[in-house]
Amino acid sequence: MEIKNQKLTDDRFYKERKEILEHWPTGKDVEFQNSVEYQKAIPQSRRFGEKLAQADSQNLTLIQPRAGVALYDEHIKLLQYLENEGEADLLPTTVDSYTRLNRYTEAQTGIERSRESGRSMLNGFPIVNWGVDICRKVTSALTAPVQVRHGTPDARLLTEISIAGGFTSYEGGGISYNIPYSKSHSLEKTIAHWQYTDRLIGIYQEAGVSINREPFGPLTGTLVPPSISNSVAIIEALLAAVQGVKDITVGYGQCGNLIQDVAAIKALKAMTRQYLDKFGFKDVKVTTVFHQWMGGFPQDESKSFGVISWGAAAAVLAKATKVIVKTPHEAMGVPTKEANAAGLRATKQITSMLKDQSFLEIPAVVAESEIIKAEMGAILEKVEELGRGDYAVGTIAAFEAGVIDIPFAPSRYNAGKVMPARDNSGAVRFLESANLPFGEDLKKFHQEKLEERARYENRAVSFQMVIDDVYAIGKGFLVGRPNTNKNQ
Ligand code: 5AD
Repeated sequence: MEIKNQKLTDDRFYKERKEILEHWPTGKDVEFQNSVEYQKAIPQSRRFGEKLAQADSQNLTLIQPRAGVALYDEHIKLLQYLENEGEADLLPTTVDSYTRLNRYTEAQTGIERSRESGRSMLNGFPIVNWGVDICRKVTSALTAPVQVRHGTPDARLLTEISIAGGFTSYEGGGISYNIPYSKSHSLEKTIAHWQYTDRLIGIYQEAGVSINREPFGPLTGTLVPPSISNSVAIIEALLAAVQGVKDITVGYGQCGNLIQDVAAIKALKAMTRQYLDKFGFKDVKVTTVFHQWMGGFPQDESKSFGVISWGAAAAVLAKATKVIVKTPHEAMGVPTKEANAAGLRATKQITSMLKDQSFLEIPAVVAESEIIKAEMGAILEKVEELGRGDYAVGTIAAFEAGVIDIPFAPSRYNAGKVMPARDNSGAVRFLESANLPFGEDLKKFHQEKLEERARYENRAVSFQMVIDDVYAIGKGFLVGRPNTNKNQ
């Protein structure tokens, strides 16, 4: 497949659209003009992008959970509970794994089994199976705006039904919903599938309906150095903007060192703006999302609240526009509604308490953000060069060459040579930067940071540090020291 970072032609888009809508019976209920009218009748207070823009202008950090169950009436009750008892500002609809893999027949069985057993037999809400009208029932039953959150390499039909169903924000991207989630989907294919999603949203935009788009920031959620995830977020923002998307929320997953986390959001926001402007997208709105720790959690609920609260603090001190909230059940699996609301309330306490403090201008943050920006600049420059100015072509070449390389990704389209590890104060550095296009200064910086830790721990810099770091937070620490139980 020949892929280019160009707006899909109407010819190509509508031909593809016909096939997509015929793929599953609920597709035939999608009717564009009707959906535009439905979307236009949604009050401003329930539009995701509006609420984000308002928070952005007031320097506030909104809170948003993840949540989804199989049956729609239960799903509505769950979301109502999270906005009432959890004080959620923004709501999700987390989609189940079968739907993410386009396995709608199995999702249907899941719905039926859930009915029989009286509990959710799916790990999310199967949007495609329920179809447009039921999705409208869900999105209209709530006070807060609702976003679709998933992890779907081919989300074309899901996007069609979601937007027709009244959702006003949509997560994902051709890189971020492929490489961390899938072993064998080619990037060419998933970038093309997500061009379809973005073009559809572009077409709604042109009809006067603005849908917020959010590339999935944390990627594998495991020690991803900020410059890598930030670069991917910017590429996905550019790819979306080319298709006509006008409202983008770029994201980042907490690493755990406060200075680095604030610096990452600072660099992400500044460089997304810079790159969108550079390519003529000055009218695209940019906001940010900070994800509370995406790696392994402690089993203990009180300890989990510690992790949750630290993420909340980093998000608000970085002035992220919203924070995605974890729950004290994270180590166990899908949370109860009570646990979900508890994570939200802990987060709300912190985001409200700290709303008048900012760490964005403190010198250590500024210095760290300069490093992140230098790394992002190097990666993005190389992607552009490899694609001769085309970011779709460049991204595919960059993954092949390991110029973008996401740690711990299952995809065979990812080089998997880069190795991250924490430095002595817990910031995520490169133990091995492999083929990332970094100059000698940057490489030396990371090397020295790790040597400093090695001296402190009285051991050599090695892969063992990476393993120790992956498990550290679950055991109660940030840096995985030798004899982690004592963590001397
Ligand atoms: N409800 C609540 N949280 C969910 N997650 C995944 N599916 C659901 C769901 N249906 C959460 C996981 C993890 C993150 C990736 O998404 O618990 O925190």
